[in-house]
Amino acid sequence: MCGIVGVLGNHEAAPILVEALKRLEYRGYDSAGIATVNNGTLARRRAVGKLVNLSDLLVHEPLAGKSGIGHTRWATHGAPTVSNAHPHQAGGVAVVHNGIIENFRELRAELAEAGVTFVTETDTETVALLTQHHIEAGLTPVEAATKTLARLEGAFALAFLFDGHDDLMIAARKGSPLAVGYGEGEMFVGSDAIALSPLTDRISYLEEGDHAIITRSSVAIYDVNGALANRPVKTIQMDTTRIDKGGYKHFMAKEIAEQPGVINTVLQNYLSDTGEITLPGDGIDFSDVDRITMVACGTAYLACFTAKYWFEQIARLPVEVDVASEFRYREPPIPAKTLAVFVSQSGETADTLAALRYCDGKADMIASVVNVPESSIARESDLALSIHAGVEVGVASTKAFTCQLTVLFLLVLKAARDRGKLTDADLEKHIADLRTLPGIINTALAQSGKMQATAQKLSHASDVLFLGRGQMYPLAHEGALKLKEISYIHAEAYASGELKHGPIALVDESVPVIVMAPRDALFDKTVSNMQEVMARKGKVILISDAQGIAEASDGVWSSIEMPSVAEALTPILYALPAQLLAYHTAVAKGTDVDQPRNLAKSVTVE
Ligand code: F6R
Repeated sequence: MCGIVGVLGNHEAAPILVEALKRLEYRGYDSAGIATVNNGTLARRRAVGKLVNLSDLLVHEPLAGKSGIGHTRWATHGAPTVSNAHPHQAGGVAVVHNGIIENFRELRAELAEAGVTFVTETDTETVALLTQHHIEAGLTPVEAATKTLARLEGAFALAFLFDGHDDLMIAARKGSPLAVGYGEGEMFVGSDAIALSPLTDRISYLEEGDHAIITRSSVAIYDVNGALANRPVKTIQMDTTRIDKGGYKHFMAKEIAEQPGVINTVLQNYLSDTGEITLPGDGIDFSDVDRITMVACGTAYLACFTAKYWFEQIARLPVEVDVASEFRYREPPIPAKTLAVFVSQSGETADTLAALRYCDGKADMIASVVNVPESSIARESDLALSIHAGVEVGVASTKAFTCQLTVLFLLVLKAARDRGKLTDADLEKHIADLRTLPGIINTALAQSGKMQATAQKLSHASDVLFLGRGQMYPLAHEGALKLKEISYIHAEAYASGELKHGPIALVDESVPVIVMAPRDALFDKTVSNMQEVMARKGKVILISDAQGIAEASDGVWSSIEMPSVAEALTPILYALPAQLLAYHTAVAKGTDVDQPRNLAKSVTVE
């Protein structure tokens, strides 16, 4: 989490830094700050809360200088206060940091023994203090920062600026991503290339353990062993247009509405005109795969969980699915002929990346499904499959989820084909169904207004249950996750059949129970569970198609009608009511839809 940016430029740095921080605010919004060096003098401004507070502060207390560093914070160590906000400064050293310095207590103890005092609760202050301590002992800024870096354990991306040095910035990466941007007589660093996109499209990525000594006219990158390293400069294709809401009230609403278009883009990228599934590079030969391990976090994990049903039912391939934070420390054995698949919108999620690294050399192949082709997870995979969702700004993932599902469904079809589990006719039927999906999603979007009334009722609840069976079970989880994260209403998901094994004790007339039940082969079973809820006065919201609603909506509190869709594709379509219900409920409650409390879009700490 946290976003960092640095500039050695030819123009005033403050507005450039603030603009870049806007593009990084998805990483955290607990506080923001910048530091500049102006005619040799280091100074900083910091403000609690969203970036707009820092912008306001800079109007009253401007900061001059063409060299600067900036930070937007998701608090790890220490509350979101001005004093804990970055940049942290010790004497003539200012530092911005993304990550966690795990041995900061040990370093603090050493510094305290040397008589150094602390003014913050953060791990980052230790980095600035240790570097300043080395400078006071007679080292140059470069020597001091290098010596400090050698002591740091944990995950970090860092940028240093020094009093008295208008043309020097030091950047380092271990665990957290950092991009170096090349301008004309200017240099930049940023947590990702998107932050730098209005400034330059020429980017190189620091690798694990690298540090860079940067001036306006030179970059020297050293690897983990201190040897000069050559990191290629790539010209990145990037949408440099300002990311805006396009007339919608929230990014989330815009991103929900974009789904027909981006799913169509996925189909165009992975399907030939003749209906063949085309993967980049050498693709994957599933006839050599005996099992799949899928690992991810949050909504991306739920995309994997959904794909498990597809892989097992359509391609007859066993799939193990796990959340990355558990997988990485469980260290499971990886049998021969395992394909490991990592799904991540950002491509930078720390736990998912660590799980990928665990599988490196153990799994036969590492594939990833990502939205950021230049991300660490993409770069460290044997095969990276882009989901083509475009930039997702809303913290709650929406279009990335349905694009992940679409890419995974195509992989399932490829697997089923390679393994001889799908006839030509069945494959053609699946592909034809897929091609109708964007239109069907458009129809579902038209129900958005009707869902407002249900959401209004939902907004008064304090606990909500989601039920689903079969491939709707992961979707029930997605519905509960979306509702929790943006409306702050407590929500849980259960497999419909599990209800009577305990959770039904929660049901009374105050608990809305959202039942996701397309009229599929399992419909009658789910409806029986729904009746058990209604018999206990639970308020059922039934989400189904016209036939399902006609057959089973007697006595329900509310019903939401989805268009009909091929049975295999229901998880993609039913993501829409999950998203829209959460969205309208959050709007009814007046919560911060795009930047919900305590969250950040890219989780680069474990
Ligand atoms: C929920 C959400 C998160 C992310 C999770 C993984 O709406 O967005 O649960 O899905 O943090 O992030 P990525 O996909 O970037 O690895």
